Order: sequence, then structure tokens, then C-alpha cells
Amino acid sequence: MADEKKLFKVTIDNITIEVEPGTSILNAARKIGGDVAPPAMCYYTTLKGSGGKCRTCLVEVAAGSTADPRPMPKLVASCRTNVMDGMVVKNITSDKVIDARNGVVEFLLINHPLDCPICDQAGECSLQDLGYEHGKEGTRYEFARRTFEKHDMGPYIQLHMTRCIMCFRCVYAADQLTEKRQHGILDRGDHAEIATYIQKSLDHDFIGNIIDVCPVGALTDKTFRFKNRVWFLKPVDAHRNCSHAKCSGKVTLWYRGEEVFRVTARKDQWGEVKDFICNECRFEKKATADWEIEGPTLVSRHSVISQGHYVGVERPQEVLYDVLDGRKPQLLMDIHSVSEVDRPEIDLSKINGPAHSTDFEPHEARGLNPTSQAGNPWNTGKLEKQ
Ligand code: SF4
Ligand code: FES
Repeated sequence: MADEKKLFKVTIDNITIEVEPGTSILNAARKIGGDVAPPAMCYYTTLKGSGGKCRTCLVEVAAGSTADPRPMPKLVASCRTNVMDGMVVKNITSDKVIDARNGVVEFLLINHPLDCPICDQAGECSLQDLGYEHGKEGTRYEFARRTFEKHDMGPYIQLHMTRCIMCFRCVYAADQLTEKRQHGILDRGDHAEIATYIQKSLDHDFIGNIIDVCPVGALTDKTFRFKNRVWFLKPVDAHRNCSHAKCSGKVTLWYRGEEVFRVTARKDQWGEVKDFICNECRFEKKATADWEIEGPTLVSRHSVISQGHYVGVERPQEVLYDVLDGRKPQLLMDIHSVSEVDRPEIDLSKINGPAHSTDFEPHEARGLNPTSQAGNPWNTGKLEKQ
């Protein structure tokens, strides 16, 4: 009989679950889901070595394990700390954690420009979400923000270095998804920047994936730049038989009307891509005919992207005909027979400028035959004297 694997019991924000040994606190919390899962700006499940850079996932360990129930003296990065049997963790139930996270967000925003109104990442930016949840209205930082020389990364990828939070995700992605990484982090400390050293364009056929892994708008799609806001687009899941050996061919198409504005890999509920796609699928297949459409992408209803999109909504049963004994509603009230407003012969699109009340003057006020107004309940004595 195969040995049964012993599971570890861990309690996070008063909810106890069992997970396999070797699971990080972050992944255990993600199993519970919702707000219990700490935010993560640098950890990325599919990228080896990611995590431990941004500190947004800090949690308090109130008891280390059943064997040693002492609390851990400092907050720990949940993406890099594994659970122990009997561990007790506090995330949103800890004031210390919330306070520390507020501080981390303040640090991340020290150099990050507040250019969400013109940033293509707005609406799907992890830092924007964090800023709303933990940000302060003002800044205490008094010095000039960092600036960088503009760096051209080729025809597909736009780098905005001032927005970068140094999470290293794009470097790990380029390292692990392409055979030859052409960019990295140059210099150290405050001078550290994403660059190709000797200006080179990023041209590997899988390099477009660094756009999807970037948690902020530091790396964006040049073919989509300034073309639309994500919340005006309609995302649908689609696939194609891509000839690239490593490409999944499974994407999200972002539509407006009949036009496909951009193509991205599919992200899960934690904003992570599991199946990466090639540059050809991402940048060159922007016609509906290139894809087999599966259906609307499920977007969290809390996301701004879901504004105006209603997936799986059931229309309430129509009861008006029952109430009216089968009569049609317009038989009861034809607005044109009782009101001067909304007269069908006035074509509002032909009026020069916005419509005013004078566009709807009663007939007699405009010298027309008053008998045509007979029976009009809105035709008051005051108007008749005019
Ligand atoms: S460019 Fe984006 S993915 Fe790369 S280190 Fe900066 S924030 Fe992270
Ligand atoms: S997600 Fe854990 S340190 Fe960044």
C-alpha cells in the first residue's frame, strides 16, 4: 500500500485548511481564496525563482508550528515561506500586516508616476489596485522622481522605465521562455534599470510574454498603444492551431465592435498566465477569421473590465403582457398623441446643436393650425393666449 502523504494543517485568518508539505503560505492562502490571499507583485507561479522582491505579500506568523508554537519575530514574505504543521498565520486580520503593506505601497509609489489616465495598463494594473486599497492620498516624498533615458526595445514592446517596480518577472520570463535572454537589470540600487545594455530590439519569437507578466505598465504592447481603454473592450476566449511548438494558441481577444484591438495570453484569477503564446499569435493575428472563438472570457465582477459586460445574466421573466391581459403596451399610451415632446417629425440628428425646448414648441406657438391640438392635455390656457 502506498504511503499516505501527511498533510499540514495551517490556519490563515482563522480559516483552517490542509495542504501538502512544501506549500508556501501564499499558495495555501490562495486555496482559501478571496481577501485571505495576500497580494503578490513579484511572485509568479510559472516562473522559477520569482518572489521575495516586492514585500507586498508580507504576513504575520502568530504560531510557527505545533512543535514550536512561538510567533515569528518579524513579518515574513508569504511567497517565500513554507507552511508548517499547526502554523497560524494572520493576513487581513493583522493590523501590523495592513500597516506594513501600506508602507510597502508608499515605497513602490515613490518613483512610480501617477499616469494611470494615459497608461495602457490602467484597469488591469496590480499596483493601481494596491494603490486603491492601501495607498495614501498624498506623498511624503520630497525629492525628484527617478528619470531614465528612453530605450527602444523594438517594434513590439514599449518600455516605460519610470513605471517599473523591479519585480524581475520579465527577466525570469525572458530567461525561462526564450533561448537567449536579451535584456536584464543593469546597475544597482536607485540606478537599477531594465535594459538591453547595447540598444537592441527584443526579437525572440516568445518575448511578447514579458508584457503579460509585468504587473504594471512598464512593458506594454506597441501594437495596442493608446488605441483603447481595456474597460471599453470585450474580452473573448479564442484559440488557433499555432505551428509554434511551444505556443498554446489559447488566447484572449480584446474586441470593440468588430475590431480585435489586442491579443493576450489567458490569465487566471491571480492574474497569472499558465499557457504562454508566441509573438505571431499576439501581434500578427488580429482578424476574427484567424481565430476560433470559444465564448466570453470570465472576468471578476469586481474588475473595472467587467463594467458593462454581462456574462451569464438571466433576464427576468416578462410579466407586462400578463398584467395587461395580453394587450400591447403602446395601445395604452402613444406618447405622440398626448404630448408635444418627442414628436416623430422632428429629426433630432438634423438640429443644429443640442435640442432646446423651442424645438418642441406647441403648434399654435409656431403659427400652425390649433385645431390639430384638440384633445391635447398638455395644451394649457397659458400657451393658447400666446
Ligand atoms: S519591467 Fe515590469 S516585469 Fe520587468 S522588472 Fe519592471 S515591473 Fe517587473
Ligand atoms: S510577492 Fe512575495 S515578495 Fe513579492
